Amino acid sequence: MPPARPSTYLDYNATTPPHPAVVEAMARALRETPGNPSSAHAEGRKARAVVEKAREHVAAFLRAKAEDVTFTSGGTEADNLAVIGAARAAARAGKRPHVVVSAIEHSAVLSAAEQVEREGGTATRAPVGRGGRVDPAAVEAALRPETVLVSVMAANNESGVLQPIAEIGARVRARGVLFHTDAVQLVAKAPFDFSALPVDLASISGHKFYGPKGAGALVVRRGVKFESLQVGGSQEGGRRTGTENVAGIAGLGEACRLAAAGELHDLAAIGRLRDRLWQGLASRIPGVQRNGDPAHAVPNTLNVTFPGTDGEALLLRLDLEGIAVSAGSACHTGAALPSHVLLAMGLTKAEARSTLRYSLGQGNTEADVDRAVEVTADSVAALRGLAAAAR
Ligand SMILES: Cc1ncc(COP(=O)(O)O)c(C=O)c1O
Repeated sequence: MPPARPSTYLDYNATTPPHPAVVEAMARALRETPGNPSSAHAEGRKARAVVEKAREHVAAFLRAKAEDVTFTSGGTEADNLAVIGAARAAARAGKRPHVVVSAIEHSAVLSAAEQVEREGGTATRAPVGRGGRVDPAAVEAALRPETVLVSVMAANNESGVLQPIAEIGARVRARGVLFHTDAVQLVAKAPFDFSALPVDLASISGHKFYGPKGAGALVVRRGVKFESLQVGGSQEGGRRTGTENVAGIAGLGEACRLAAAGELHDLAAIGRLRDRLWQGLASRIPGVQRNGDPAHAVPNTLNVTFPGTDGEALLLRLDLEGIAVSAGSACHTGAALPSHVLLAMGLTKAEARSTLRYSLGQGNTEADVDRAVEVTADSVAALRGLAAAAR
């Protein structure tokens, strides 16, 4: 057999491999607590204890109260629950709900805003500047008397740019409007303190910080009204019904425990690797452009445009060399659609289509980064050569 091709994973914003302690916590839950947490007998109580311990870990990590944590199937469900759930609660109270979301939200929020519109409400998309930051004044200007909720993410998944959620939350809540933040790409990469932030609802997802896929949470401040999107059962205080994913919840709790203890990853080292990657790309490849304000960004993400190339073709070339990254376009029904985030930041469609996202994590090395620079530089040169030959 040929030696295994070295593989270089630089797509940690898409998902992270579960930490060994997370795998162990999940296996233990499956092995040792197979009961239904809603059952009154001893087996049920043991499973309930696993769920509640995990809730404490999540709450301690986010500096929230345990009773504020609602477990969900991940970030998408938490986002849907916040936006659609709050709008439906307002509609039930006789209002025609209006929501404000930023133009760079994940589709879990953007599509939820569209669902609010389909159900008779209205939605406004707040713009971002070239650096990828939402302008708090623009969000405030979008508020109306019937605005129920504003949703602005804490950090963007494509650019890594941190959003001014403290300022936005303060302005929004001063007007009596709920503020939701999708903190999926922020937690474990930058501090997040639910007790101190002017935030009513916050979404997290386990698989973005070395926890399991299919497990997340919506943190909801006491007294906030929103409707469950599911009916049947009374789990999670009726906010998210259905038998709990005990193993997934145990894994999420363990990821939060590790993150709170600083045992998940070495962020400073990851930041240095990210900088080395950018310096390597910028010094080897003419015309590269870094997207997103580096002064306000999580330390692991690098978004780069390589003019004169096709991002999907670049991604495939890197993939053939065992390097995993993401492109600034997503394939929908066979056509590569340029990223709505990059377009909102003012990039042209051609620029967005020539863009790659590198997102680093624990386990990456200088050798990974140097290899990524070399393969990217060769691939960009090859693609530019092909484009020149075709002219
Ligand atoms: C910012 C953001 N929000 C929400 C999600 C969705 O989370 P999940 O994959 O857990 O549904 C993602 C995942 O890509 C994300 O990056």
